[in-house]
Amino acid sequence: MRKILKLTNRRNFLFGLSSLAAISAGVISRGFDRHQKIEALDHHQRDFTVSQGLSLKERAAKKGLIYGTTSTKKYLTSDPAYMAAIVENCRMFVPEWEFKWTAGNALLRPGFDRFDFSAADWIANFSATHQLLLRGHTLVWHSSLPKWFKETVNSENAEQLLQNHIQTFVKRYAGKIHSWDVVNEAIKTEDGRDDGLRITPWLNSLGTNYIDLAFRLTSAVDPQALLVYNDFGLDYDTPKDEAKRDAVLKLLAGLKSQGTPIHALGIQAHLSPGGNNKFNPEKLRQFLKDVASLGLKIMITEMDVTDKNLPVDIKVRDHIVAGVYEDYLATVLDEKAVIAVITWGLSDRYSWLSEFEPRGDGTPVRPLPLDTQMRRKLAWNAIARAFDNAPQR
Ligand code: G3I
Repeated sequence: MRKILKLTNRRNFLFGLSSLAAISAGVISRGFDRHQKIEALDHHQRDFTVSQGLSLKERAAKKGLIYGTTSTKKYLTSDPAYMAAIVENCRMFVPEWEFKWTAGNALLRPGFDRFDFSAADWIANFSATHQLLLRGHTLVWHSSLPKWFKETVNSENAEQLLQNHIQTFVKRYAGKIHSWDVVNEAIKTEDGRDDGLRITPWLNSLGTNYIDLAFRLTSAVDPQALLVYNDFGLDYDTPKDEAKRDAVLKLLAGLKSQGTPIHALGIQAHLSPGGNNKFNPEKLRQFLKDVASLGLKIMITEMDVTDKNLPVDIKVRDHIVAGVYEDYLATVLDEKAVIAVITWGLSDRYSWLSEFEPRGDGTPVRPLPLDTQMRRKLAWNAIARAFDNAPQR
């Protein structure tokens, strides 16, 4: 073990990850072995030191990269310390709720012909005030649709609805948006279609052409913005993720070949160490290369590392989470088509994982770069190190 730990940093990372998969399986299934295995991994010896001084956005910028995060008006207006941490660390901002049709306490689309821009406008002003590049997340998604959607939308009116949404909403912020997630999560190979498309209300009402249509409509209204296809489940060396990578690649290649104005792939990167989730840097690198060879940029759009299956000891947990951040980012940032890294939240005080992926033992989740008191965790150092070591864009 000691010899292995003295290898180059990169090889050290890879070793840590493959061991992590094995150990996490053990942690879950054989509690008895747990301490021995964790001690054997010796995470405490991994070095996450960083040079002091620069924030994440500054470290990213030095390499021609953008770092950002997501939040909501609700958290930003009630928590000045959190807002300050975001402004200090981030160059890019993604509204977690306000640009969706509806989410949390935001309702952009109260009815078929109706818009309420108040929350989205607040976000646009917040971003402009703090010189944050703004992402438009998301125009077409099967989730976060208002109640009336299901009752009202059919194959006769769906195109009119989509057209009106894009021509009204995108137009309002045109020229002010870095990138639009035009279509979100359209692939689900388990749905059993040959093309891998997820069966959604949009697919049902508009047919397979809905993706191309959404990109063309958006491009016509906001020709300056980067237009992105965004999806999750692309990260691991599992049959499921492999099938998804293949299906996404086919989708992107098909769109490019028919002239769809698509400019980038968003890889969400909601990472979940443990169980069967083995990380294979070579396979991920190849996927990124294949995407880049289509002439597309790549953004890491929603990164976080769930500690749901990790030991309760915070020191051990934080080391493992940090290792996953650094290993993943060291791999993806080698690909120069990757232009941005966004974490899905900045502080453990606010993470969707608290609600959607809580820990079995009831202890608070720790998936993000800052702790609940806005102090830097090892995950912060890990991201900083990945930026510091990334090749220049
Ligand atoms: O605020 C209400 C709360 O008052 C209520 O008690 C509770 C009951 O369920 O709901 C709360 O709102 C929820 C909110 O999250 C806060 O937890 C919304 O129902 C829920 O829609 C919202 O979920 C968001 C989710 O997308 C759906 O829009 C998450 O915040 C957000 O992090 C998540 O983000 C998605 C990306 O957009 C796409 N990729 C996956 C990612 C994670 O699921």
